[in-house]
Amino acid sequence: MSMTQDELKQAVAKAARDYVADTVPAGAIIGVGTGSTANFFIDALAAIKNRIDATVASSEATKMRLEGHGIRVLDLNEVSSMPVYVDGADEITSGLAMVKGGGGALTREKIVAAVADKFVCVCDESKLVDTLGKFPLPVEVIPMAREHVARQIAKLGGQPKLRAGFVTDNGNVILDVRGLNISDPVGFETALDGIVGIVTNGLFARRGADLLLLATPAGVRQMGK
Ligand code: A5P
Repeated sequence: MSMTQDELKQAVAKAARDYVADTVPAGAIIGVGTGSTANFFIDALAAIKNRIDATVASSEATKMRLEGHGIRVLDLNEVSSMPVYVDGADEITSGLAMVKGGGGALTREKIVAAVADKFVCVCDESKLVDTLGKFPLPVEVIPMAREHVARQIAKLGGQPKLRAGFVTDNGNVILDVRGLNISDPVGFETALDGIVGIVTNGLFARRGADLLLLATPAGVRQMGK
């Protein structure tokens, strides 16, 4: 019988929960991502909540879901290190570079990931790609810089489109950039970081994932370490 995408996400969420239970010292603080796969991870994490001390959330939605399970959520400023950050992705390569931000939480995700020793990405197999860019690349922008940033991105070959009716947790807007074929994710991430007015771009390449848990109908595959 074939598995639905939700069943694949659930399977990989449980694998990530087991990874945390097996590798993270008791009483540790865990970074938690955003999105439907991360939500399944949060639900799975509830079963081992007594083994961890607390979490740091990458969005208001994730914070609410964690607290709904009775899991403590700390402000990132109270935390100086975390062994692991677990999150999904919109696209990931076998080199473990990612496009993230489909849910709009890219800035807090990149910040929380930066404090974690290890980024564990949880995906179903539909997210694994040869080249990033088919999924429109989210870019979080200060509202007054929107048109300036859009012109600069067009010069780099992208077609930016304002995400209608969307405001980030940080009070900014998102441009979703189509038409990209990103052969050099590290270089492109760095180029976008050079445009004033961009808060964060959705390429997670300079700091990609360390471990990918990839759900397939044949089981959860591991890439990286
Ligand atoms: C949230 O801003 C994104 O970076 C998510 O990690 C990404 O959209 C994956 O979400 P799903 O697990 O729902 O596909």
